Amino acid sequence: MAWKSLDDVALAGKVVLTRVDINVPMDGGKVTDATRIEKIAPTVEDIIARGGQVVLLAHFGRPKGKPVAEMSLGHLVDAVAQALGRRVVFGSDCIGAPARAAIAAAGPGDVVLLENTRFHAGEEQNDPALAAGMAALGDVFVNDAFSAAHRAHASTEGLAHLLPSAAGRLMEAELKALEAALGSPERPVVAVVGGAKVSTKIDLLGNLVTKVDHLVIGGGMANTFLVAKGVEVGTSLAERDMAATALEIIGKAKAAGCTIHLPVDIVVARAFKAGAASEVLAVGGCPADAMILDAGPATVAAIFAVFAACKTLIWNGPLGAFEIEPFGAATIAAAREAARLTREGALVSVAGGGDTVAALNQAGAAEDFTFISTAGGAFLEWMEGKDLPGVSALMG
Ligand code: 3PG
Ligand code: MG
Repeated sequence: MAWKSLDDVALAGKVVLTRVDINVPMDGGKVTDATRIEKIAPTVEDIIARGGQVVLLAHFGRPKGKPVAEMSLGHLVDAVAQALGRRVVFGSDCIGAPARAAIAAAGPGDVVLLENTRFHAGEEQNDPALAAGMAALGDVFVNDAFSAAHRAHASTEGLAHLLPSAAGRLMEAELKALEAALGSPERPVVAVVGGAKVSTKIDLLGNLVTKVDHLVIGGGMANTFLVAKGVEVGTSLAERDMAATALEIIGKAKAAGCTIHLPVDIVVARAFKAGAASEVLAVGGCPADAMILDAGPATVAAIFAVFAACKTLIWNGPLGAFEIEPFGAATIAAAREAARLTREGALVSVAGGGDTVAALNQAGAAEDFTFISTAGGAFLEWMEGKDLPGVSALMG
């Protein structure tokens, strides 16, 4: 790997500016899912164990370049202290005197948390002056924010050029898992791509068909492919104006030797609501007044067969309307089968994206997956084959 890890940099006696992604969901002032905070612990512990002073840099929400009280990282001080089991010293700005004061006030083993980097307009503009202001605070830059690596911001990209830089443990784990899934995977490889729209995932599909052996398409986007093939989908969510794009992707897959798997049977209902009366029909049998809300059991069986024939799985997006009962059935069944094969050592399974992780959690399958990414947009852009500026900047 061309990037440095924590093992490659001296940390003793150094102030280590550590970019993390603790952009966690909150409700009524309480963190509702602390996963992203918990995941930075190995990096923090490693730096402290080796005599470094941890100074956390992070964004929170989208304040658009000015202070917004609700998006202060001050709200996360207790959650960070609790997740790390350490005293947290808060600095009310990520540069200048407040930041220096917080660093000076921290004792050995304390963690400094600086205010939301996005309170400065220079953050999203990747302003060299802001990056220099942050760099002046420390000796080493560690980027542990894979899930923000698709942003070329001052604290993710600019800063990496100004100090000796390394990937943190979470960043390292993410990059290794993604490399194992798409970079140099054990073949055959299957990708499962679901979700509502082809239009948001054209680049993803176009890249995947050149990299994987099997592509399972589900969710609303499968309907668009069915329409493109002349199959009636009733009132289903489908982007009829994307039919030509879908045909192009099918052609590209053929040329690359990638087999596309579309639903062979469907679960249809008359209303998009939980508990709506539903029936299983062969694909092509969708009545004009009905909509497809999930893949049927024959499709699930076909997906099981593909999983059984593959050694690596990469998954982004649900196969049906998993958010309403009972239309998550195909997603849940496929997730559990992937989990079972992973447990048996037959499959390397990697998944990412907010909806996907929620679906895998709901299926009770997440624990057994080889790796679940903490990233949404960054995972997608990486799957699209795009350069992640936060990662590239670590390459030197
Ligand atoms: C995320 O939550 O996906 C990351 O923290 C990036 O946030 P952003 O989409 O606001 O850049
Ligand atoms: Mg996002």
